[in-house]
Amino acid sequence: MTVSPLGREIDRVEGRSKVTGAAAYAADHPIPDVAYAYVVTSTVAKGQILAMDTAAALDAPGVLEVYGPDRNLGLVTPAPGTQAALVENYAPLQDRRVRYRGQAIAVVVAETFEQARDAAALVTTTYQAESANLSIKAGSPGVTPQLPPPLAPPDLTILAPGVGSIEAALAASAVVVEATFHQPVQHHVAMEPHAAIAVWSGATVTVYTGSQAPVMATQLLAARLGIPPQSVRVVCTNTGGGFGSRVRSWNDSVLAAGAARRLGRPVKLVMTREQVFTMVGRRGQVNHTVRLGASRSGVLNAVSHDSDAELPAVGGWPLLPAADTTDALYQTPNLHIRQRFVPLDLPPTWAMRGPNEAPGSFALETAMDELAVATGVDPVELRLRNYATVMPGTGKAFSSKHLDECYRVGARRFGWSARRAKPRSRTDGQWLIGMGMATAIYPGNRSPVTAGVELRHDDTAVVSSATSDMGTGLLTVLAITGAHRLGIPVRKVTPRLGDSTLPPGAVAAASQATASTVPSVVAAADDVIAALTDLAVTDARSPWHGADPRDLTYRNGSLHGGGRSMTFGRLLAAVGREGLLAETRTELPAETAARYEFHSFGAHFCEVRVNRFTGEPRVTRFTTVVDAGRVVNAQAARSQLVGGVIFGIGQALLEDNPLELDTGRLAASNLADYMVPVNADIPDIDVHWLDRPDPQVGGLGTRGLGELGTVGSAAAVGNAIFNATGIRRHDLPITLDKLLPGSDPAGEAATS
Ligand code: MOS
Repeated sequence: MTVSPLGREIDRVEGRSKVTGAAAYAADHPIPDVAYAYVVTSTVAKGQILAMDTAAALDAPGVLEVYGPDRNLGLVTPAPGTQAALVENYAPLQDRRVRYRGQAIAVVVAETFEQARDAAALVTTTYQAESANLSIKAGSPGVTPQLPPPLAPPDLTILAPGVGSIEAALAASAVVVEATFHQPVQHHVAMEPHAAIAVWSGATVTVYTGSQAPVMATQLLAARLGIPPQSVRVVCTNTGGGFGSRVRSWNDSVLAAGAARRLGRPVKLVMTREQVFTMVGRRGQVNHTVRLGASRSGVLNAVSHDSDAELPAVGGWPLLPAADTTDALYQTPNLHIRQRFVPLDLPPTWAMRGPNEAPGSFALETAMDELAVATGVDPVELRLRNYATVMPGTGKAFSSKHLDECYRVGARRFGWSARRAKPRSRTDGQWLIGMGMATAIYPGNRSPVTAGVELRHDDTAVVSSATSDMGTGLLTVLAITGAHRLGIPVRKVTPRLGDSTLPPGAVAAASQATASTVPSVVAAADDVIAALTDLAVTDARSPWHGADPRDLTYRNGSLHGGGRSMTFGRLLAAVGREGLLAETRTELPAETAARYEFHSFGAHFCEVRVNRFTGEPRVTRFTTVVDAGRVVNAQAARSQLVGGVIFGIGQALLEDNPLELDTGRLAASNLADYMVPVNADIPDIDVHWLDRPDPQVGGLGTRGLGELGTVGSAAAVGNAIFNATGIRRHDLPITLDKLLPGSDPAGEAATS
């Protein structure tokens, strides 16, 4: 009897290859005769290239070619409104325009990396600089762009009968809290710098690059190369982190493919760490205001969320901080959301873990804490009083929602009852101790996926789908799901992903890869078992030839019937087959999508210590309890949730890349100055899940949880800091200088 691995602690199938260094990342693939490319980037924020002198670089040892505005790569500008244009709306090196500081303006290709790098330093560029619009504060909100689905429409107003406006609803509320929040620039800082190797064979190109979406990458690359998507293959066997930065392809793969085509040789392009900060999209800045109106007992009457987010002129992620947080979390008769964009001459932005929800939840969940203070209601009780049993506004039912249980279980595990509501009530020597909490919410996305399950004659199976594992554990999810459904050990299943030529799979983004892929693996496993049964009764070499298929049962890797049993491998061998494959596509039925709202939920509880003399904040305890449907791999789920909370702690306390308003330079574009949490910043994080399968989502009842841990966790930290110190900060990150005695929160400004 094979014990199902589902929901257990299963080691990563590729773990050993990663920790021993055997796993090949993008730039590690050994390609014969490869040439090395190095990018030259712009040093002004906006303007025109008057002249670029490449003579010295071309004369340097080993240099093969220098591409730039005078010798371009024949790349294509993506059509407006397309997914490709959303990333960056120009073709690199095709014109003399400088759109942001740190933009690719030339590429040097040489026999070695060092030769290309040294020659790149010899390229001299003369600019006609223009004045750049760099300040989100000074910039004027532009027209809301047309957003391709499934991005939500940016504005929403729901008013109770007889209520004229959200202002009227707020004015009629007994208690009103209002605060303006600032989210600064953040970066994904995935461990693997963005890199690509491009190898042409005739009119088709294979690109080795890290990706969260290998199939979409073929489309984006094809659009820029001016060739059909079928002519592009993207391989991302191992991807060293994503967090959103590899949902789309950036100029590493575009320039490598373009240069390789011109040169007639494979080209490898690895961005420097500093280049990743500007050539790859980042989290954009947003200033946003939340207003809450409530009764004296804290029951919400009005919720309002207005935002101005930067949207670089070159394109980027349209950051909608109210989407999927403010519009979905609390019951309220009056709801108003207004989201605008400020065009700036800055490097592109892109989705970053909880792209809308991480900034949005910091604002909403901080404002809720302020409402708890204003009404004297406990923060957990306040959230239960405003609990949404149906989707606010639409009244649609949730597919499955046990957030109330998350609050209660989390409060118990954390010891919330020991909290004192009054700030500065608990001290330990020079440390002020505080507790805070916040809610987590993230859409329960599921997209159409095809998965392949192949039974092999040696009693192993192969599970495949063209998706990506950038460190999330999806590869192991494929193996576990296949093993569970086929009733064989995990080690007998070979999972395959990371190649655009596999059956079309999920984008490993928006926390949907597991929720989307598992139902298709389940269905393909069922289909291949049906095909095996069919083979057993129709093939003359099978011992069940001519039997009634209904008399056969499949269990634990074997067919049973008529008093005999045979493993699938033996049966395949008996009938002379190497393997038997089923490829199955599943998606959420349209009726189900129309009837239910899908979200994952959670509750965060945080304890901090803040030094009363230096202002230094330390997170000392953290408990997170989530409701995300059925968990496939306990080990990976824990790792994802812990990672999400760490992201939240970084957002709350450390991460920022200050913009120099006179130069357009993002000043902390390196890993010495861009602060992320390290082990010493992170306590043991207690994560727990309810493990209640979602009855509507399909497959095994699994919703995503990748980004869930990030959402709300920064607010839990900030709320704990308020409880410790009595200082409320709305401007992230909450660095120690903002917590010094006498620091003036009223004087805080939404900077840059
Ligand atoms: Mo995520 S920001 O959807 O990769």
